[in-house]
Amino acid sequence: MHAVLVASNRGPCSFTLSEDGVLTMRRGGGGLVSGLVEVAKETSMLWVCAALSDGDRSAARGAPGGRLDLAGHDTGPVRMLDIPPATFHRAYNDVANSTLWFVHHLLYDTPNSPHFGTRFRREWESYQDYNAMFAVALAEDAAHGARVLIQDYHLALAPAMLRVERPDLRIAHFSHTPWAPPEYFSLLPDDVACEVLSGILGADHAGFLTARWATAFMDCCEAVLGAQVDHAARTVVHEGRTTRIGVHALGVDGEALVARSREPDVAARVDAIRELVGDRRLIVRIDRTELSKNIVRGLHAYREFLADHPEWHGRVVHLAFAYPSRHDLPEYREYTAAVQRCAKEIEDEYATEDWDPLILSVHDDYPRSLAAYRLADVLLVNPIRDGMNLVAKEGPILSPRCALVLSREAGAVAELGEDAFVVNPYDVSGTAAALHEALTLAEDERLKRGRRLRAAATALPPKQWFADQLAALPDGPVSGG
Ligand code: G6P
Repeated sequence: MHAVLVASNRGPCSFTLSEDGVLTMRRGGGGLVSGLVEVAKETSMLWVCAALSDGDRSAARGAPGGRLDLAGHDTGPVRMLDIPPATFHRAYNDVANSTLWFVHHLLYDTPNSPHFGTRFRREWESYQDYNAMFAVALAEDAAHGARVLIQDYHLALAPAMLRVERPDLRIAHFSHTPWAPPEYFSLLPDDVACEVLSGILGADHAGFLTARWATAFMDCCEAVLGAQVDHAARTVVHEGRTTRIGVHALGVDGEALVARSREPDVAARVDAIRELVGDRRLIVRIDRTELSKNIVRGLHAYREFLADHPEWHGRVVHLAFAYPSRHDLPEYREYTAAVQRCAKEIEDEYATEDWDPLILSVHDDYPRSLAAYRLADVLLVNPIRDGMNLVAKEGPILSPRCALVLSREAGAVAELGEDAFVVNPYDVSGTAAALHEALTLAEDERLKRGRRLRAAATALPPKQWFADQLAALPDGPVSGG
């Protein structure tokens, strides 16, 4: 039995299964996961996550009750749920990533999609089943009055389901994404929209990355559920229960990031990049290739900048790292292809024998990302919409003189906007102009802004963010205690 539990779709590790049946473990990736891994090391919390692949399922099946640590894996207390692959696929790819993610990031091409027919109903049932499996596992492993922190849009229904099973528990939910405004959220079928909201309201505390997303959630509760919302006190009352709404702007552990960036593998990549680009100025972007990251418009902006400013030809290079993500979804595969096409056009138009204006890489290489941050003169972060965007926070920590071009639709703008060149992500010409301004920013101004960006980026490191989530929960068991 555990006093603190965390639930998230992706866990701290993943497994691959070789043809001869040997399991190899890798540490999990991504901002949320790496932040929580550090926290998990220092506590005895139980982490409940889903098996995402055949390798994971094989590891989960081979462990008593899915407890990887009890099967000898060096993970700390982790329970990996062996969810049937078809259920997992519908819950993760069809509902979480193709529906809820699209709603919260305003990604639909509405004349053609979404289309909520019978097929969606089957997908939705799987999403319910997947959430129920988490709720059952958490209910089994939680001590009386335990605190349970449920993460993200994959698990919107689990808080209410867990509340039914275990009214004594103190439950928090945290959304790492933006939240859609009511007009857009209402694209969801009414019953589904209500279920998502009342699912999260099963928690005692619902956390968001910025005030903007918290407000949008409260607006949806009011408009869709008819819940009683107190915006000033940040509370929502629904069916007699009160949920407190919190804003916790996740930041970066600056010291750990700096220490990591001083490792030899990063130094080697700094040398390699220098070798490639010489002393030319560098515009850097680093993203997972997600539709919401707006990489294609970013490349068009660079192209327009080159067209407008021939004086920069031969003197600047754009390093664009677009790492693979969610390749089970055809839209994502097509988007990667569109990024590559656009990069090729820029190459064809501007490259000369001794100048490569754009270096695009679609292969994940974390130490190379850290090297690029260290060398960046300009960091371009232009998402259509983003919960926070930790790239915007990591860059200034590793490059004290880096100018930041930042989308006004990224959560990070709330804290970093004053010291960044803020752009409308759809305004390609505006972004091109901002790239030029950022490149030509005076040295003393770079350092001054850099200092403030760094302070804001490290204001709430993951460990503190986690502690704040726990502290926001009621003091003792909620009821039945
Ligand atoms: C992004 C989002 C998180 C989300 C994660 C899932 O990082 O900001 O909210 O949990 O994606 O990514 P995955 O690779 O597990 O689909």
